[in-house]
Amino acid sequence: MKKPYKKTFPGVFVYWTRRIGDYLLLWVLARLLGLSLALFLSFPFRKRMSHDNGIAATGKLRIVSQPDFPAHAFFAPGREFPLRIRHGSATFLDDAMNCIRSMAIKLDDTRFESPFDLEMNTGETSLFWSAASFMKFARLRGEKYGVEYRDYNRQYPDGLEASKRAGRRHATSFSNLHYYCKTPFLFEGDDGLKRYAKYRVIPADGTPQSGVEEELCSWDQCNQRVLPFETRGRNFLKYEYEDRIQKNGACYLLQIQLHPASEDEDPEVFNNMVVWDEDVYPWKDLAIMTIDQTLDWEESTLTAFSVNNMPDTLGVLPARSIYDYNSLNYLRAHAEIARKARLLSYKVFGMVPPIPDNKNRNISDWGK
Ligand code: HEM
Repeated sequence: MKKPYKKTFPGVFVYWTRRIGDYLLLWVLARLLGLSLALFLSFPFRKRMSHDNGIAATGKLRIVSQPDFPAHAFFAPGREFPLRIRHGSATFLDDAMNCIRSMAIKLDDTRFESPFDLEMNTGETSLFWSAASFMKFARLRGEKYGVEYRDYNRQYPDGLEASKRAGRRHATSFSNLHYYCKTPFLFEGDDGLKRYAKYRVIPADGTPQSGVEEELCSWDQCNQRVLPFETRGRNFLKYEYEDRIQKNGACYLLQIQLHPASEDEDPEVFNNMVVWDEDVYPWKDLAIMTIDQTLDWEESTLTAFSVNNMPDTLGVLPARSIYDYNSLNYLRAHAEIARKARLLSYKVFGMVPPIPDNKNRNISDWGK
């Protein structure tokens, strides 16, 4: 690979000084962000950074018997795992608002420890694309009574479009949505070759996705408040899911999309605002997930996920700077302290109460 600097002493010196400086900035930012979330949000307010509103459930995951993707020991054909998932709505404590919906899965029935976790949201692309962009997103939230991101959406139309495509105000069930991990992860298979992997979950029976909005031009994405004359309650999606699981259970298909790695990679491969062409990199069936039991509010709230819960051959890709697309997962990997602070806050201040069915709508904070 051609080196991007002149092979003179000053050329090499400047190049490496910049690279080390860029990485140091990312290193410091990730630790400061994790610590700030822990000290100023998760501990004092007993909150997740997002997705506080959710319901967990259990079942099992079975890797397909004839995988159509390169062999990987962890995804051995027919292998079974106990499964715990959590569906959520970001970020408001009201299911009837225009929220992005989520599905997080872990391949064990535990509150945290597991050999493999995935956190996914609706929408194929994300609202931010690097640590630098995520910090702008966080700084420009400006939420009041269910209206948010006016400044961010004005400045970053790509983020606005992605959030319009991801919002599922009119979802009828958590079970019939499509969930995408968006950021790529490493996939180093049994052949020793490096690839990049994205994952998604869809309904196993092909039920069409609910709540996909057609008229996006006329949609005010900043206003996520419940609609006038809304009849659906604050917990309608969670109640629907409990009923559904009790009666029939739910069945999902986990799929994987693989992209070969190369020495001098085009950075855009890692950009989670760019969808990989499905004709070239098709989605392959990875596993069937069946859910047969929902968990109560307390157990759902105590359940948490992490990008660090992955085998080394399937983990987070390295990042070099705050502008590197892989820096998003770098931030997530260093935000564990926020989860720990949240769990500690329950021990110190008590468990957060379930979301009431009252008319106190359009809120994302406890206790208002
Ligand atoms: C496109 C990228 C991202 C996706 C798809 C994503 C997805 C999710 C999901 C689905 C959850 C809720 C999981 C649950 O049900 O418990 C979550 C929680 C969380 N995310 Fe992200 N996220 C992304 C980026 C980030 C970034 C950049 C950060 C920065 C630090 C971050 C930090 C967190 C934290 C701190 C929590 C709550 C952890 C806890 O208290 O349990 N996420 N994320």
